[in-house]
Amino acid sequence: MLKRTIFLAGVLGLFSCSKDSSVFISEFLKDPSSVGAVAPCCEETSFAMVEPIVKGDGFVLELGGGTGAFTQKLIQKIDQDKLFVVENNKVFFDMLCEKFPNHKILFADAQELEKHLPANVHGKIKYVVSGLPFRSLPDEVASNILKSLKKVCAPDVVLVQFTYLKDQPLPEEALSLFGFKPKFYKHIPENFPSADIWIYQKN
Ligand SMILES: C[S@@+](CC[C@H](N)C(=O)[O-])C[C@H]1O[C@@H](n2cnc3c(N)ncnc32)[C@H](O)[C@@H]1O
Repeated sequence: MLKRTIFLAGVLGLFSCSKDSSVFISEFLKDPSSVGAVAPCCEETSFAMVEPIVKGDGFVLELGGGTGAFTQKLIQKIDQDKLFVVENNKVFFDMLCEKFPNHKILFADAQELEKHLPANVHGKIKYVVSGLPFRSLPDEVASNILKSLKKVCAPDVVLVQFTYLKDQPLPEEALSLFGFKPKFYKHIPENFPSADIWIYQKN
């Protein structure tokens, strides 16, 4: 299944001749569990990921910016000083900086958010838009990311997450740590592979 997906993504990448697609494939082949996808998300997914955000309502954190599919939508909606994008892959980070030179793109591991986000933001992140592949990351890494997120997020944080899988995409620990109730939001058949979007918030 995985081989077929990589092959199909390669074919798509070749035909689309998109730099983003070819960079995605090569970074995925270097580190599949961390990149977690063979292609960037499509327009429909990217648009839907930022839809739940209410403009002007606190700081927004994007986790795992990749080639910037969600970032592109976020910068159209969120004030520059309210948005932080975190990426720990240097190739993706450099691409993000080139595409969004006036925005706060952080070369950082999401396991150490409190070290990289300015102190005035701690406890005030109101929205998290996550491209992180929680289900393919090692359990310990996923757990560290959740604990780090807890330190920087507001008590009423709303987290938006996409997945290619059928089940809700966050580890159970997220539900107990934050008191989140997972809510299915949208299915995006246009995405490759097709994706589901979930929203997490307290009741
Ligand atoms: C599935 S890609 C999502 C990219 C983009 N948002 C999209 O959908 O097109 C996952 C991204 O998370 C990044 N990532 C994985 N682990 C990370 C970590 N611990 N800290 C920061 N970024 C991470 C990967 O480098 C990759 O860019």
